[in-house]
Amino acid sequence: MFIAKEIQTAAYLFASILFILSLGGLSSQESAKRGVFYGIMGMAVAIIATILGQGVAGHTYIIAAIAVASVIGLMVARKVEMTSMPQLVAILHSFVGLAAVLVGFGSYLDPKTQSLTGAEHIIHLTEVYIGIFIGAVTFTGSIIAWGKLEGKIMSKALLYPGRHAVNVALLVVCIILGVLFAGAEGTSGMLYLYIMTAISSFIGIMLVMAIGGGDMPVVVSMLNSYSGWAASAAGFMLGNDLLIVTGALVGSSGAFLSMHMCHAMNRSFVSVILGGFGNAPAKGEAKAIEGEVTSLNHEEVAGLLKEAKSIVIVPGYGMAVAKAQYPIYEMVQTLRKAGKNVRFAIHPVAGRLPGHMNVLLAEANVPYDIVLEMDEINDDMPDTDVVMVIGANDVVNPSAQDDPNSSIYGMPVIEAWKAEKVIIMKRSMSAGYSGEDNPLFYKPNSEMLYGDAKASVEKLLGFLKA
Ligand code: TAP
Repeated sequence: MFIAKEIQTAAYLFASILFILSLGGLSSQESAKRGVFYGIMGMAVAIIATILGQGVAGHTYIIAAIAVASVIGLMVARKVEMTSMPQLVAILHSFVGLAAVLVGFGSYLDPKTQSLTGAEHIIHLTEVYIGIFIGAVTFTGSIIAWGKLEGKIMSKALLYPGRHAVNVALLVVCIILGVLFAGAEGTSGMLYLYIMTAISSFIGIMLVMAIGGGDMPVVVSMLNSYSGWAASAAGFMLGNDLLIVTGALVGSSGAFLSMHMCHAMNRSFVSVILGGFGNAPAKGEAKAIEGEVTSLNHEEVAGLLKEAKSIVIVPGYGMAVAKAQYPIYEMVQTLRKAGKNVRFAIHPVAGRLPGHMNVLLAEANVPYDIVLEMDEINDDMPDTDVVMVIGANDVVNPSAQDDPNSSIYGMPVIEAWKAEKVIIMKRSMSAGYSGEDNPLFYKPNSEMLYGDAKASVEKLLGFLKA
């Protein structure tokens, strides 16, 4: 059974509206669930309208492929930990990139497109060439991002002398190959396509390898944007309006998110897109850390909390790993009942996902009015008695402000060290995601409280309630 072209167009329009509503819904925590629902509906409408479109053959294979993919998707989504979501997102972006590459090759070899002539022919070849280029950069870049997030590839930036000149030279070679490709007869341009695919795959690898761990959030949202443009390019090649619109929605919203994150992290958008272009390379060794690390036990920290009037909690990735948000909120309620002013300070890239800490705290029913953004609370730090850094590291690293040789230099951070006392709760002295040591641990007003965040907070609760 096929549906008329007009009905398919109407269904595509409806799906596009649902996707726009979905993006709108995802802009706040209260409406996020509704946004996801619109997205699911939109995708269901899009798939059904596409499968039932005129001229689509092999329905049995299509349905079998959808069934297998749905089962795999369900299994992966059920198994994935919240802390591993960025890796999953990165690998899904790589699939979009690979799909754009395959669609590009398929479209070039398609006998129907071979009959195109004149301007139509040139436009089609341009779509194929650009689609494969963006797809290959997205594919390999996303795999490297996955490796970095999963800890399989070092998170530090891989910088080699003259890399920008190499990237520009490779881009020029791709443009020359593109001109040769456009002039090739029949399918004889395949060789140029193969070479360009290899070069663009290499560019994708090098662009993401050159980004330091602290800047990975921007890279993930940027690859999200690239995957949208790759999908859009595939839409042009297939003559599918919905794919063009949906790809453009993902591409532009991803670009907007990247710009927003660059702003929050004081990074240049252009620099991050171009693999750190314009970032002055570190001139020397990171500053030697002075001071001594001292630690307290749980009973001593509970004593400090009992005496404090104003307390700020800075959660980070370790809170997510330990799933410590529930006992933390119980501790906050106990402290607030005792008349203390307790608030949370949230860094825009704490954890591994945009809004990661907000989602976890909302899950534990922490009221929004005590959850403050970094900019809202930094000025209050000098008047704070105790800052509890729970499983956070990079987001409270003072090197971001005072060590130009640090890879996170320039990134705004929560100025925990300005409080009277800082308690850092983590399991060891190991570095954060950026791989940079943290001089905060060595400050005279800092004390380490070693242990898993959840177990530590539960112990503190025991002492506070005693
Ligand atoms: P990190 O700098 O990654 O530090 C987290 C700390 O948590 C680690 O030093 C670790 O120390 C500790 N930890 C791990 N498991 C723990 C547990 N069970 N109990 C207690 N502590 C535990 O985290 P952050 O301060 O949240 O900063 C986020 C970093 O990730 C930034 O560099 C950011 O750029 C990057 N990043 C963010 C995102 C987004 S979008 N948010 C995406 C990708 C990357 P121990 O091992 O000693 O316990």
